[in-house]
Amino acid sequence: MNADAVLQARELVRHIPVTRGVLFKRTIGTIKVVDGVDLEVCRGETLGLVGESGCGKSTLANLLVALDKPTAGRITLLGERLDTKRGRRLAAARKHIQLVFQDPFSSLDPRMRVGEIIREPLVVHPELVPKADRPARVRELMRLVGLNPEHADRRPHQFSGGQRQRIGIARALAVQPDVLVCDESVSALDVSVQGQILNLLEDLQERLGIACVFISHDLAVVEHIADRIAVMYLGKIIEHGTAQEVYDHPRHPYTQALLSAGPGATAPGTAPRDRIKLTGEVPSPLDPPSGCTFRTRCWKAAEICARETPPLRAPDGPAGHEVACHFA
Ligand SMILES: Nc1ncnc2c1ncn2[C@@H]1O[C@H](COP(=O)(O)OP(=O)(O)OP(=O)(O)O)[C@@H](O)[C@H]1O
Ligand code: SF4
Ligand SMILES: [Mg+2]
Repeated sequence: MNADAVLQARELVRHIPVTRGVLFKRTIGTIKVVDGVDLEVCRGETLGLVGESGCGKSTLANLLVALDKPTAGRITLLGERLDTKRGRRLAAARKHIQLVFQDPFSSLDPRMRVGEIIREPLVVHPELVPKADRPARVRELMRLVGLNPEHADRRPHQFSGGQRQRIGIARALAVQPDVLVCDESVSALDVSVQGQILNLLEDLQERLGIACVFISHDLAVVEHIADRIAVMYLGKIIEHGTAQEVYDHPRHPYTQALLSAGPGATAPGTAPRDRIKLTGEVPSPLDPPSGCTFRTRCWKAAEICARETPPLRAPDGPAGHEVACHFA
C-alpha cells in the first residue's frame, strides 16, 4: 500500500444475483459487475478510469463513494475502513468523498435555486459551516468554480450545460472533500466546454490538493487530466500505469485497440498508431468468458487464454506498468 493513498480499494467485488420466481425466489446466475478491483489515489493526484460502456465504471464509482455496498473486498478512506461503516459514522465519512455526476441536466433539481443546491450539503453536514456564514460560503464556492455569485437566485434551467456542471462541482466541493469521484462528468458537454471543465477540475485540484478518480469511456478525455490510468474490462482492471506509459506504450491488446481507435491515433505530427479494429460485442457480465475475459475479441488469443485468468502484474517490477495479459 502507498502510505500517501487517500483512497484505496482492495479486491473489490460487486456481484448482483439474478433471481427467478415471485414467491419462491431462486438465484439462477450472478452478474459480475465489479470483479476484484484494486486501486488507490493520493492527495492532489488524478486516477483516470477508462473502459467501454457496461464495463462496471459507474458501479465502481458508487462503491467508492459508499452509495452501494461491495459483495467483498474493502475500501479505505483516510486510513479508515469505509465499507464497514453504518449510520451516523457512514454519513460523517461521506463528506470526505463526493461524486460529481455525468449529466448536469438531470442531476440538479430544477425547482431549487442554485444557491440552495450548493448550500444543501452544508445543511446535511451542519457542523462544517455555521448557518450565518453559509450564504458567504456559497458565494465563495460559486466564485471558485467561475460562476457569478449574483446568479445564486437563478434556477438550473437558466444556466448553460457547462455552467450546470460547474454548479455540480461547487456542490461537491461545499463539504471540502478529500476525494472527488467524477463519473463521466464531461461526457454530456460539447468538446470546447469539456476542455473548460477539465481545466477547472485540474486547477481546483492543484489549489485544493484534492484526489480525483476521473471516469470516462473516452481515453482522449482522460489523457488531459490523469496522472495514472486504469483500463477496465468486464469488471476488472486489465492495465494500469502512469498516463504517459499507458499512452505511449500500451501493453494490453484491449488498450492498444482503444488507443488505435481514438482521435489521437492519427494526430498531425505524431507517428500514426497501427489501426486495430475491435470486433464483436462486450460479453455479458452474467456469463463472462473463461480465463481472460477479453479473449473473445483478442487477435492474440491462444489456448492458455481460455484456460487461465491472467493476473494484473508488473513485469518490470513492483512499481511498474501493470498488465493482465499472458503475452504482454
Ligand atoms: N442493479 C443491477 N442489476 C442488473 N445489472 C446491473 C445492475 N447494475 C449494473 N448492472 C450491469 O452491470 C454492467 C455494468 O454497469 P455500469 O453502469 O457500472 O457500467 P458503466 O461502465 O458505467 O457503463 P456506461 O459507460 O454505459 O455508463 C452493465 O452490464 C449493467 O447492465
Ligand atoms: S491473455 Fe490472451 S486473450 Fe487476454 S489479452 Fe492477452 S493475449 Fe489476449
Ligand atoms: Mg456509467
